[in-house]
Amino acid sequence: MCGIIGIVGRDEEDVVVDLINGLERLEYRGYDSCGVAVVTGGSILRARAVGRLQNLKAKLDDSGLSGCVGIGHTRWATHGKATENNAHPIMTRDVAVVHNGIIENHKELRFDLQNDGYIFETDTDTEVAALFLQREMDRGASHRDAFRRLLKNIDGSYAFGVLFNALPNAIVAARHRSPLAVGLGRMTCVGSDAASMSGMCDKIIYLEDGDQAEISTNGVSFFDKNFQHVERKVHKMSDNWADSDKGKYPHYMLKEMMEQPNAIRKTILHNQMDHHILDGVSRILILACGTSYHAGMVARYWFEKFLKIPTNVEMASEYRYRSPIIEDGVMAIIVTQSGETIDTLEAMEHVRRNGCSRVAAIANVKNSAISRSADFVFYTEAGIEVGVASTKAFTAQLTILAEMAFHQHEFLLRELQNIPTLCEEILLSHDRLKEIAENIQKANSVVFLGRGALYPIALEGALKLKEISYIHAEGFASGEMKHGPIALVDDSVPVVCLCPHDELFDKNVSNIQEALARGSNIIVLSDSSGSPLLPAEVTKIILPRVQSELAPILYPVPLQLLAYYVALLRGADVDKPRNLAKSVTVE
Ligand code: F6R
Repeated sequence: MCGIIGIVGRDEEDVVVDLINGLERLEYRGYDSCGVAVVTGGSILRARAVGRLQNLKAKLDDSGLSGCVGIGHTRWATHGKATENNAHPIMTRDVAVVHNGIIENHKELRFDLQNDGYIFETDTDTEVAALFLQREMDRGASHRDAFRRLLKNIDGSYAFGVLFNALPNAIVAARHRSPLAVGLGRMTCVGSDAASMSGMCDKIIYLEDGDQAEISTNGVSFFDKNFQHVERKVHKMSDNWADSDKGKYPHYMLKEMMEQPNAIRKTILHNQMDHHILDGVSRILILACGTSYHAGMVARYWFEKFLKIPTNVEMASEYRYRSPIIEDGVMAIIVTQSGETIDTLEAMEHVRRNGCSRVAAIANVKNSAISRSADFVFYTEAGIEVGVASTKAFTAQLTILAEMAFHQHEFLLRELQNIPTLCEEILLSHDRLKEIAENIQKANSVVFLGRGALYPIALEGALKLKEISYIHAEGFASGEMKHGPIALVDDSVPVVCLCPHDELFDKNVSNIQEALARGSNIIVLSDSSGSPLLPAEVTKIILPRVQSELAPILYPVPLQLLAYYVALLRGADVDKPRNLAKSVTVE
């Protein structure tokens, strides 16, 4: 949430175009508004715009803004509406600040600063940081002392990039519970992620919590949370951003759905399960949010059935507000695409503080905060996922979880190898889904039903539809319908039912009959053996036959496609749905 980039150029080179390129790669973190600032001729100049980056580009074309040291920001609004006035960089006379995170004590600080005569011009929490720095410097502090006083006085989370008028060759940065890294190469950069600096840097240094960095034409210095000089590990930056253009596809989401067979194949190839991984584990605790949480929910069915290990799945955003009891022998598995979701990261730390000594992560982004702090990591080999709605990362997460669950079940592992081909079959012939999307696009509400390990897939189908098409959708366990939700159903509410020909088929058909009796328009996803047994009134989508345990990896694919086509018909921005961001780094 919110993307930060800062660049110190070489040889008086203008950095504005590189700032924009960096922001383009950060736009997935927020796209409410954006801006850049440069220090030039002893003063700071900035340009900001509401909405997408092209609006800022248009302004920059007109303004001719240039400079060889600059910062940029793409915003996901937390405090203050998405207006140009609230867009970052936030400036005072002598500083410009970009910020990701939330300053929790901003009200108190605002009050103090106002009492000292400082006037606020925005509704943002970030402005307290800018005015705090200004006040400290007005009182005679050096930029470094002012910055340190600021860090000592704020509560909450932050990644900061700051320009000072008085330091025309430098950017000062710091992080606490929000990601930030320094990149070295053709340019010296600071950025929210590696991608933002790719093409400019070939080495990356991740700041630790509480670290500050001073980046200048003379090099980079790091300081820890006690303001002591430190060295931090330098990593080679893997430049795989090149894989991430849309290629022949109109949207990243479509491209990423199409990449699923390969993502699953690569994930299987790169993750041979060590048979000892679960030695001594008496309980598994899965922590995740959103789509990744749904992957965890599926895993509970698998783990309890095949590993015979009691498994809990917890929404990471709620978990740390409980007082969990962690017995000996608990292994936590953190599931995350980005590896930096703050709720998930906090839950991971909470579980450690409460005595869990074995923490594994399943992550897609290499070297992310969660993968760096786990005891061991399994990487989904899905490649960069740009579309805000997670697709290929989800099926790749399920693949790793399936490998864990089935590691002593040769037959299921062999069946898992067939999933990419079955997935290809769906992706290559899905015109029927486009027709069904025509009906769904007019609905105000859609219900998704599934039983057993397909119940979480019903939740995922509903999440995909609501997040990109803005149609209200809810997933239910089929058997729960009669306990309340069936009251929602009438002929205006399409019901999508996941109904492979498995041991729960007959029960699912009974639930379908109950909905039909209430006039529902029912769409059933089944297979060639289930389809002839379904009531004639339903609309059928026939999927390839799959070993029932593996259906949760295959059945999300048509649901993703359905959501995609509904969103297209409604004219929604599929890759950047309103109000969302790909990487959720605020609580
Ligand atoms: C939905 C989606 C989100 C994420 C959630 C967790 O399509 O992508 O629900 O799954 O924000 O993100 P990660 O997996 O990066 O921790």
